[in-house]
Amino acid sequence: MHFAPIVPTTHVPPTRIARGTYVVHQVQPALGQPLFVPINSMVILGREPVIVDTGSPANRTQWLEDVFGLVDPNDVRWIFQSHDDVDHAGNLDEALAMCPNAHLVCSWAMVERHTSCFDFPLERGRWVVDAEPVDVGDRTLHAVRPPLFDSPTTRGLFDPTTGVYWAVDAFATPLPDPAAGIGDLDEDFWFHGLWLFAHGAVSPWLSMLDADKFRRSVDRLQDLDIEVIASGHSPVIEGSFIDRAFERIRELPALEPTVLPGQSILDQIVAATSIPPDR
Ligand SMILES: [Fe+2]
Ligand SMILES: [Fe+2]
Repeated sequence: MHFAPIVPTTHVPPTRIARGTYVVHQVQPALGQPLFVPINSMVILGREPVIVDTGSPANRTQWLEDVFGLVDPNDVRWIFQSHDDVDHAGNLDEALAMCPNAHLVCSWAMVERHTSCFDFPLERGRWVVDAEPVDVGDRTLHAVRPPLFDSPTTRGLFDPTTGVYWAVDAFATPLPDPAAGIGDLDEDFWFHGLWLFAHGAVSPWLSMLDADKFRRSVDRLQDLDIEVIASGHSPVIEGSFIDRAFERIRELPALEPTVLPGQSILDQIVAATSIPPDR
């Protein structure tokens, strides 16, 4: 039996989101819905260039082309790995091999969890946890864990010189169009997407939270002077959309969890995507 492959089909070139700061895009078709899921990473071109997350293996060739179209691999000094999920660490091996002058910003927990499938070069490592600084020559970046995350190792990254915050898996939402910006999304569609992904795919523990503690964790992030939010799975969020995004995130713990697709939906997907064998 043959199945139509689920592969990235739409290339969106890297976009400049702030001075010297670029989002590297991958857009993946959503499973079973006519929607799309962004899988982003980021590059910061300061005195000591930083790669922020390393994309997914499914997009390896394009990711390498996009990233090293922005920066010479020999110039890269830092690879900041937000956490150990495959859509964020999918080309870490390749990036380390191609960037011999780069340190890997990771953590003890990341090494412990990921070392069964990845040989960490410990001598190149810098272990950074939540609330710690990362000095990259001409600026000090700050590791700040977002209020929504799907790995205990997650740390976002705030650049106070540009106001860009890398939110990792927070603010994840599907898109109706591969190139949709945040302003293109219907307000209700956006909120539904935030709810669906937060409760169903990123942070299913949301409904267990102490509301006050969660509010303080959102306050902590919102108190930064964020001018642009770049997320692994959202269009860039800026301007008035930043406050809207935080408002929406604050509402999520009080909402009912989503009911995820089950076997009947999988049967429908398989039926719809299977190709009859040649007669
Ligand atoms: Fe993740
Ligand atoms: Fe992710």
